[in-house]
Amino acid sequence: MKISVIGAGYVGLVTGGCLAALGHKIWCTDNDTHKLDVLESGQLPIYEPGLDAVILKAQAEGRFIVTKDPVEAITAAEAIMICVGTPPGPNGEADLSAIENVAYTIARHAQSSKLVIEKSTVPARTGQELKRALAVYGKKRGLAFRVASNPEFLREGTALLDFMHPDRIVVGVEDDETERQLREMYRPLLEQRFDCPVHPSGCPSLPPPHWMVTTISGGELIKHASNSFLALKISYANMVAELAEKLGADIDQVMRAVGMDPRIGNKFLNPGLGFGGFCLPKDVQAFIHLAGQLGVDFSMLKEAEKINKRCISRFIDKIRQALWILKGKRIAVLGLAFKPETDDIRFSTSLDLALRLAEEGAHIQAYDPEAMTKARVAAPQLNFSDSAYEAVRDAEAVIIATEWKEFRDLDWTRVRDLMARPLVLDGRNCLPAADMVSLGFDYYSVAGSHSQPAAAVEVA
Ligand code: UGA
Repeated sequence: MKISVIGAGYVGLVTGGCLAALGHKIWCTDNDTHKLDVLESGQLPIYEPGLDAVILKAQAEGRFIVTKDPVEAITAAEAIMICVGTPPGPNGEADLSAIENVAYTIARHAQSSKLVIEKSTVPARTGQELKRALAVYGKKRGLAFRVASNPEFLREGTALLDFMHPDRIVVGVEDDETERQLREMYRPLLEQRFDCPVHPSGCPSLPPPHWMVTTISGGELIKHASNSFLALKISYANMVAELAEKLGADIDQVMRAVGMDPRIGNKFLNPGLGFGGFCLPKDVQAFIHLAGQLGVDFSMLKEAEKINKRCISRFIDKIRQALWILKGKRIAVLGLAFKPETDDIRFSTSLDLALRLAEEGAHIQAYDPEAMTKARVAAPQLNFSDSAYEAVRDAEAVIIATEWKEFRDLDWTRVRDLMARPLVLDGRNCLPAADMVSLGFDYYSVAGSHSQPAAAVEVA
């Protein structure tokens, strides 16, 4: 199929690159011409493991065309994927102006009727507005557009795997022809007939995805309901962690046992600095806003947000208990991306933590394996190191803010010897507590068996 992807961010590039890997021909455009320049130079404007190879291969085979001309992208394709950003406005409502702009551009420039697919995460009812906007302009020119919702469930860091081996493919449609076209688009995944870029030697025996057909609003709702439920799970774990900390219980053990019940499941129950990134926080806000507009009480999600905000404050209290005065203290912050395997720092709780410590006067020496370029621009008030070892030199505390494997694999004896004082505060409970203690560290995690700095217990 000929498909255009409008929006060359995380969603657009993964979707476009993977659809090209399935054999489709893709036109990719964005109104940020810098991103397109980077793509044309054979690089990626984002870091996503494996994606560079997928896009380079598709470019070389002529199946991934980068164009600065949206009209070229629109006229070339039979289906158009909208992958533009929907950032939160000041009251939490999703800002859909980019979606509207794309709708008008499509309706004004298309030479024939097209299928327009919502890939960006949008609140329910957006599809109906999109249809209306396309109809207003399309009608004058005798064109009728069809709209579908096709939410993505890609996690940054493992997006290729999630695209190629999804649990489900949700399509919100209003007619059979649209469903047929979407089925055609995803046929290689449904029939498991493709050269998998994640597992080049063949896919392990993974079940094919569920094909789920729903209404456009149903598709939109499924996406917000999924992300909000994930946020609820994380906040639930963080809420129990608050109590576990007071009781001296090991939260990791508690949540492991809770998650062994298949009705609950063991994923997304890791406590720590809370959920960040460009999806969960904004989707929860937008979902609350939509429910409020329709008079439905979503206070449960508001609580999840409050618990999430408390995570950083509670962790800073712990750092203060361990260090007493923060002002002037040299602290190494390891990890700035909102989670490992990405360079994304949008709404990163790790970066927030570093900034709040800096605001309190601490001398922050920060390092992240992938997010440094973006962090240097976004947070010039921090000091940056080119390696974890450089960051920890003479530090009075090391904070694990993002659970990169690189940090687990550090030579911790060397780290200890480089530091001014062997103190580690693990905001992601990702280091082996007993090993850290036996190396001579004062090691504190979130509600773990080693969670409380001694002085704080006495004060409490
Ligand atoms: C999330 C969803 O997981 C995807 O299914 C969805 O497609 C995507 O949003 C999206 O809407 O595009 P992502 O934002 O990449 O994916 O990140 P997650 O893996 O969900 O992590 C979100 C945040 O929660 C991170 O800050 C992570 O550190 C935190 N988290 C995650 C926890 O604090 N504890 C956990 O147990 C899991």
